[in-house]
Amino acid sequence: MVFSTTRLQYSVADLSNFLRARTLAGKADAAIDQERFRQVIASHSSEGYDSYKYFDKQLWLRSKMMRAIELGLDKGSSRAVLDLGCGAGYFLYCCKHLGHDVHGIDLPTYEFYRDMIALFGIPRTGFRIEPRKNLPILDKRFDVITAHQICFNGHKTENLWGPEEWDYFLNDLQKNYLKPGGTIALEFNAEPEIGFYTKEVRGYFESRATRIFRGRVIIAGDIKPSPAFTPSETAASGLAAGGLATRT
Ligand SMILES: C[S@@+](CC[C@H](N)C(=O)[O-])C[C@H]1O[C@@H](n2cnc3c(N)ncnc32)[C@H](O)[C@@H]1O
Repeated sequence: MVFSTTRLQYSVADLSNFLRARTLAGKADAAIDQERFRQVIASHSSEGYDSYKYFDKQLWLRSKMMRAIELGLDKGSSRAVLDLGCGAGYFLYCCKHLGHDVHGIDLPTYEFYRDMIALFGIPRTGFRIEPRKNLPILDKRFDVITAHQICFNGHKTENLWGPEEWDYFLNDLQKNYLKPGGTIALEFNAEPEIGFYTKEVRGYFESRATRIFRGRVIIAGDIKPSPAFTPSETAASGLAAGGLATRT
């Protein structure tokens, strides 16, 4: 059985996280400067769907709070969280509200995202993520690195990243940005006529990830070494340590 919000579907197993997310998102919302939020929305109200869909802050706060809970970020000590392609910053704002130290990376050009990020008071580095190019130097390491509804992988283009691009990217994250034992959580957008991943990309992630479900790839704890593009036939193993609370 599934239940849904306007755009998001969950299973019954998600119910307790969903209810907790609603409560925590309400508290996070109450801490936002509502007048300033209205001003940001008003100043971008003539823009297209890319901005417009993020005007529904209740929906996005609930959805991103759910992601934070699934990663165990609603419990425990303060952690350093990096979000790649952070967009309007709803996920990082939820993390910040939960007491974490946050940082975002996104394209520097989009003014609606810039204004939302400023509203939320989130430090962000303007940068275009490109295949086989290292991320910018951030002079710190992170306990959790996330990317939600990923577009930087050539989403909906003919240049969709394959295993080699993902391998370069994950190795850069592991070598230069992730703390030992940290978690990488990726959330994919579905590709037309492909689904969340090509067969090759899924095989690659199966060889490295802790868990793959519903377009999500979780790499947690001791990260498996790069497979040099010989994907294992073994499906990803069950949930490892790291407080990941989501069920498939
Ligand atoms: C679908 S939005 C998702 C935003 C946010 N992660 C969320 O889940 O609400 C995709 C985001 O990726 C960013 N993006 C797209 N291509 C990028 C690139 N090459 N480098 C960095 N960010 C990129 C966009 O600016 C946008 O913020």
